[in-house]
Amino acid sequence: MEPWWKRSIVYQIYPRSFMDSNGDGIGDLQGIISKIDYLKNLGIDVIWLSPVYDSPNDDNGYDIRNYQAIMQEFGTMQDLEQLIEEAKQRGIRIVMDLVVNHTSDEHAWFVESRSSKDSGYRDYYIWREGKEEQPPNNWGSIFSGSAWEMDDKTDSYYLHLFSKKQPDLNWEHGPLRNEIFDMMKFWLEKGIGGFRMDVINFISKDEKLPNGTIHDEQMYGDGSAYFMNGPKIHTYLREMNEKVLNHYDVLTVGEMPGASPEDAQIYTDPDNQEVNMIFTFEHMNLDSGPNEKWDVRPLDLVALKRNFEKWQLALHEVGWNSLYWNNHDQPRVVSRFGEDGAYRELSAKMLAICLHLLQGTPYIYQGEEIGMTNVKFDSLSDYRDIETLNMYKEKRQQGIAHEAIMSSIYAKGRDNARTPMQWAPDGGFTTGTPWIRMNTNTTFINVEQALANESSIFYTYQKLIQLRKKHAIITHGSFQLLLPDHPDLFVYKRQTDEEEWLIVNNFSDRPNQLVWKEFVPHSKGNVMISNYESLKIEGDIVEVRPYESFVLAFERRKSIEESTWS
Ligand code: NOJ
Repeated sequence: MEPWWKRSIVYQIYPRSFMDSNGDGIGDLQGIISKIDYLKNLGIDVIWLSPVYDSPNDDNGYDIRNYQAIMQEFGTMQDLEQLIEEAKQRGIRIVMDLVVNHTSDEHAWFVESRSSKDSGYRDYYIWREGKEEQPPNNWGSIFSGSAWEMDDKTDSYYLHLFSKKQPDLNWEHGPLRNEIFDMMKFWLEKGIGGFRMDVINFISKDEKLPNGTIHDEQMYGDGSAYFMNGPKIHTYLREMNEKVLNHYDVLTVGEMPGASPEDAQIYTDPDNQEVNMIFTFEHMNLDSGPNEKWDVRPLDLVALKRNFEKWQLALHEVGWNSLYWNNHDQPRVVSRFGEDGAYRELSAKMLAICLHLLQGTPYIYQGEEIGMTNVKFDSLSDYRDIETLNMYKEKRQQGIAHEAIMSSIYAKGRDNARTPMQWAPDGGFTTGTPWIRMNTNTTFINVEQALANESSIFYTYQKLIQLRKKHAIITHGSFQLLLPDHPDLFVYKRQTDEEEWLIVNNFSDRPNQLVWKEFVPHSKGNVMISNYESLKIEGDIVEVRPYESFVLAFERRKSIEESTWS
């Protein structure tokens, strides 16, 4: 039987910024419950909840203090159970975030672990002696600085690939793995629909922990070759399936920076029993320089198309793709690959159509469905994200100008995705003061207005979801990239024995032309979805207007003479 998650659409909620029910300025579980009918109306099947566990919030919940308790600011375990139940009544499953590469330094395991070299929990984390007063190796943390922190109590260093309040767990240690598996069962027994696994391909480190290469202008070594897709990653994932996941019918998606399509073939081939799908970063890295995300470059559409082509072909009938433009770590796609001024509506719809017609499970990040945009706060003090703040400090120490750093933050900072959900012209997120400033464009970009306007971006998403439910070609059809070197147009074809769909997207504000008969088979074409009112055709030529997007469906086998537009 086909797994349910192949036909599902996932909606990601970043709870802190979604909906505040009690006026403290922080989103919460009751807030989410109050909006489930909105999500039902959109048509999604699954909610992925970013972490809601007890946490001191050094990294907004990705630093977990207690895996089996709910963050007080978000509510109670009862609220979570209510959310699972209310969602279930509407046919929606709740997927939880599984953050097990690291914990908070306030987790009881770490408190014990750091207390003495003889602690029974010592091996839950990665401890090493320094070398001549220096850290054990030259790795840099993803959140700036060294990846090692000296802990005076035992005069040793612990590894933290993220902030120093996020010590890495030691997966080599069997008892630690078993604790994690038990914790996963605890959540699965509550009836959740699966896990999104945070940086799960980092959990196996090369035990020798060799120095990494120091790239141009970087202060630390890049250790990724020794912790991404490490030596025992497949063993650990298979053990997790055998001991836990195989006993439940759930969705699993592994967040896997640095995984190639070849890696993904192994991770997602159902015969291997590892994960259903992964989040790749390759398409998200195309507008950065080779060594760091803050080195902002213009997007090369040809590279983007080639990248999607590679992933679509590699996983077709082998594994499974996840499809996303946005999440809580990425800038808003309409500001990034679209145009958030005069063409905001058109380009947001174009990006949605372009992504949702691919093969894989689509993920929608809160606010994407109304075309929320990036923000530009004048003052650094309005930013909240630890990655952004640490990076700013480090770059200033290196002598980089304030303006240059701010322009990277405007383009790539994670707070772009974390401003509160825009429910109404006056915000509608909280009655109090939000924990991070609201984007002032809520006056005209908000849910209330989107729902009232039948040609809004929201209804394009709704229609895309309906199309996916109705037409198996979207789930199963083959993929072929057309016009691979065209600098503005992203055109591709999906195909089954019965049908052929042509998907045309203009990623620029320039009009382009297509000779449509060069692309379509011999039959009558139906417009399945588009972002302009009607197509512009003269004779054999289709004009593809700025940010235009449309999908044409053709039955196969009919002759070209019968072709008409409808
Ligand atoms: C990836 C998460 O998506 C991100 O938000 C977090 O900061 C890191 N992993 C560390 O957990």
